[in-house]
Amino acid sequence: MSAGDGDKSSNQQWGGRFSEGVDAFVARFTASIDFDRRLYRHDIQGSVAHANMLHQAGLLTEEELKAIISGLEGILEDIEQDRIDWSIELEDIHMNIEARLTDRIGDAGKKLHTGRSRNDQVATDIRLWLRDEIDNISVELKRLQAGLLDVAEREADTIMPGFTHLQTAQPVTFGHHLMAWFEMLVRDFERLQDCRKRVNVSPLGAAALAGTTYPINREMTASALGFDRPTNNSLDSVSDRDFAIEFCAAGTLIMTHLSRMSEELVLWTSAQFNFIELPDRFCTGSSIMPQKKNPDVPELVRGKTGRVNGHLVSLLTLMKSQPLAYNKDNQEDKEPLFDTVDTLRDCLRAFADMIPHIQAKKESMLEAARRGFSTATDLADYLVRQGMPFRNAHEVVGKAVAFGLQESRDLSEMTLDELKAFSDTIEQDVFDVLTLEGSVSARNHLGGTAPEQVRKAVKNAREAL
Ligand code: ARG
Repeated sequence: MSAGDGDKSSNQQWGGRFSEGVDAFVARFTASIDFDRRLYRHDIQGSVAHANMLHQAGLLTEEELKAIISGLEGILEDIEQDRIDWSIELEDIHMNIEARLTDRIGDAGKKLHTGRSRNDQVATDIRLWLRDEIDNISVELKRLQAGLLDVAEREADTIMPGFTHLQTAQPVTFGHHLMAWFEMLVRDFERLQDCRKRVNVSPLGAAALAGTTYPINREMTASALGFDRPTNNSLDSVSDRDFAIEFCAAGTLIMTHLSRMSEELVLWTSAQFNFIELPDRFCTGSSIMPQKKNPDVPELVRGKTGRVNGHLVSLLTLMKSQPLAYNKDNQEDKEPLFDTVDTLRDCLRAFADMIPHIQAKKESMLEAARRGFSTATDLADYLVRQGMPFRNAHEVVGKAVAFGLQESRDLSEMTLDELKAFSDTIEQDVFDVLTLEGSVSARNHLGGTAPEQVRKAVKNAREAL
């Protein structure tokens, strides 16, 4: 066997040092091609930038460069047309593409890996890939936000019970509730953009771990690939996966938020709440109970939060205690990261498609707000405005509520005389604050639940979006 032309059964990319081929099970065990092939486009993108730089540094002739670029373009097309037989023996996407390039263009293909290692190559690929995916996810997130704003505006005046401890607390507007969801997503979006900054640096040129002896130009490849700058330290460049962990952490918060929304949607569609209707196309029936309409989409989103949380812990555990620099352990970064991206995209898409079509059952929401003495705080505030200390007012209203419970009547359903029995300062105007409309519109300040504030919040958010 002559130097460099390995035979397939042997370690073909590093045949020189080895006296026997890799064990078939070990080949399968150590290969990542089954999952890392989804990096193909970014791997080729990185190789094109690297080849151009090698040419500029005098390490590739014009002809070699041209052959490499057109060879890589051909491979890209083959992959996209599904004309590739991926090889386990070639371990991963990087070596599969490189071997194929050499098959296509001959010796020039063997020069592509000059001054580069799979260690900086894979770090570059993941960063390029994740940058695109952050942008895709951000688009879905914005689409969901825009949908929420439309529904919030439509439902700015719709009254529902607000809850603490899942017990009726005070009336709020449905639009206000939806704008609370919107705020969660504002933070999620910011977190993604912040994470993107640390994703968008170029490790290319770090080579295996120490840099390379060739006169490479790292600024050139960084800028050709749209990175903000090259990384500062070669050891850190090939071993850092903080950016993937950060992304997954941002992802877990997105899923946490979606699961909270899901939980409310599930509750609200139940016969017991009966607050909203989800379109049939986002629900399924039961194979045995003909009456059922199950809110599968929010349930599944809620359930998928588990795997994303798991992926974050996987990556943290993967990186814990790893010595510098690259270790094969790092091959395990991909599946959790890929699945986090897929899950986020699907869940955000499902929500962005569904949210604009939720129908509020206004009568039912209003009815629920009427139950549970949701204007009790308003009555206490009324007494305070008459000069009563808040703690005394709290006590007085507590007694009124106890009476209401006994009589099965809301505060607004009591007569003026009945109310006066609890405090003789109460007058006819008390009924203005005991109505649900009065209660919500009185909370008319920045961040309050008044319809006017909801409309303002929607307007501001729309401008910011
Ligand atoms: N498939 C490898 C990974 O995903 C590529 C880097 C391999 N580097 C090495 N020295 N074995 O991490």
